[in-house]
Amino acid sequence: MSAVESMTVATQIEVLDLRHFSARQLRPLLEAEARLWENRLRWDYRSSTELLLQYLDSRILPGFVALDHGRICGYTFCVYEGQKAVVGDAYAVTKDGASNLAVTQLLLRHLLELVENSPNVDRVESQLLLYDTGALEEAFLEAGFMQHLRLFMECDLAQRPAAVELKELPPGLEVVSWSSSYYQAAAELIHDAYAGHIDARINDQYCSLHGSLRFLHNIVRFPGCGVFDPNQSWLLVDRNRNMLAGMLLCSRVAPDVAHITQLCVRSTARGLGLGQMLLAHSMTQLDRAGFAAITLTVTESNRPAVTLYEASGFHVRYRFDAMVLDRSTKPR
Ligand SMILES: CC(C)(COP(=O)(O)OP(=O)(O)OC[C@H]1O[C@@H](n2cnc3c(N)ncnc32)[C@H](O)[C@@H]1OP(=O)(O)O)[C@@H](O)C(=O)NCCC(=O)NCCS
Repeated sequence: MSAVESMTVATQIEVLDLRHFSARQLRPLLEAEARLWENRLRWDYRSSTELLLQYLDSRILPGFVALDHGRICGYTFCVYEGQKAVVGDAYAVTKDGASNLAVTQLLLRHLLELVENSPNVDRVESQLLLYDTGALEEAFLEAGFMQHLRLFMECDLAQRPAAVELKELPPGLEVVSWSSSYYQAAAELIHDAYAGHIDARINDQYCSLHGSLRFLHNIVRFPGCGVFDPNQSWLLVDRNRNMLAGMLLCSRVAPDVAHITQLCVRSTARGLGLGQMLLAHSMTQLDRAGFAAITLTVTESNRPAVTLYEASGFHVRYRFDAMVLDRSTKPR
């Protein structure tokens, strides 16, 4: 956007504190956004919308609303997790209901200024799945963020390659479905699997055991990435070592679409075919349960994972940005 264009946007649009607005006032905008989620990602976003509306009504979310001649045309918010702020969403529409990137950037600039000036915030993370890479990068890059390319991938189960078959497991290993008794062991596995990994630079929850546990709680209890499906989430138990060797977690994002929220194999057990086996097992079970498609997100530079997904029948739907600002002096 040129300087003249951004001035035009700025003079027409009023930006106000999100906490002045009720859920009722914001509902039409959020419902329009939910339709976009469905078209673009095959996600039924309605349960997330309802949860967000509850938060909006409690007037605790830091964020902004854009008004065009008094008409609500956009919003953005973030959540604080300790010393970290996570951009929750940013969305704006034109009068005709089309996505309005200029106003979205304007809102983001307000939000980023707010979090940067918040005492005790030393890290800001953002992954806005609704936008192609580059669409909103200016607001982030001018604030000093690092950009990491991520892929949104999809597999149509009817078209998956026949080569994806279950392999026999090494002795002592067993696949079981998720149960909450595995929380601690699963967090420990995530912490191990992402040590020194690019994804731990994008999401700092992976950097500690406590953060990994928090990541799991978010996935299992909140519908941000779909509704967690314990019957389609798998743990690879190593009976000999009394620990987990791998894990695949799955949520339901639409009646017939699953989303893999986590796949990892312990660092000492890589290259043995366990990741491929977990993915094949998950795909077979989802197929049997009547799912039509699976989606997932992956960092483009994570070659082992991207190669595995492509070989298993996933293709890239689009690329999006993970943006990170880290001002902490602590080693992560
Ligand atoms: C991605 C991951 C789950 C793969 O698990 P794994 O058990 O080591 O993988 P497998 O042994 O089953 O390998 C299956 C296929 O993946 C690809 N692959 C695995 N490791 C690879 C590597 N280091 N480089 C390139 N391709 C690789 C290959 O296509 C391989 O098939 P091949 O052996 O016939 O060539 C594992 O590396 C991991 O846990 N990484 C850290 C967490 C992570 O990145 N998760 C994905 C987040 S989206």
